[in-house]
Amino acid sequence: MGCTEALTRDHEGVMEAAEAATGMAVMLVQGRDPEPGDLSTLVIYARTFIEQVHYLREEEVLFPVVKSRLPHLSSECDRLKADHSRARSLMERVAAGEGGAQQTGEVLAEWARLVRAHTREEEAYLLPIVERSLGPERCLQVRTGFARMDRPGRERMAEPLVRRYLVPA
Ligand SMILES: [Fe+2]
Ligand SMILES: [Fe+2]
Repeated sequence: MGCTEALTRDHEGVMEAAEAATGMAVMLVQGRDPEPGDLSTLVIYARTFIEQVHYLREEEVLFPVVKSRLPHLSSECDRLKADHSRARSLMERVAAGEGGAQQTGEVLAEWARLVRAHTREEEAYLLPIVERSLGPERCLQVRTGFARMDRPGRERMAEPLVRRYLVPA
């Protein structure tokens, strides 16, 4: 069993949220309203699961291990952590709804772009290196750390909400 499956599972939910956020952002910018409650559901998912579970799995478990075992990736971890801070503050602005619907839509679209690019980079670059490089002992330490932060039932947004905002191919 690999070290980072929990993160890859999280990333599926994160990418769905980014997709839904993009769809809602387009509507808000065009002056249309998402379904009642959907935007606040997204904000709650971002704040409770993405920020308080997923980012903390990376910031408190993954990055410290990567920094100590693979020091050449230290600045990469710092950069990814800075992305988390930027995403947190963008979501803060979405939650505050400052500047009205159109501005909220623009900020939400920026959050979605950032989160998507960030997640792709972790999947394509960082996690494969971690999988190849950490020995079994560190791997177990990482997996145990992730498991301590499990939040069953919070990992994904409801499927009907996600489907509502899928852009047809
Ligand atoms: Fe991250
Ligand atoms: Fe991530």
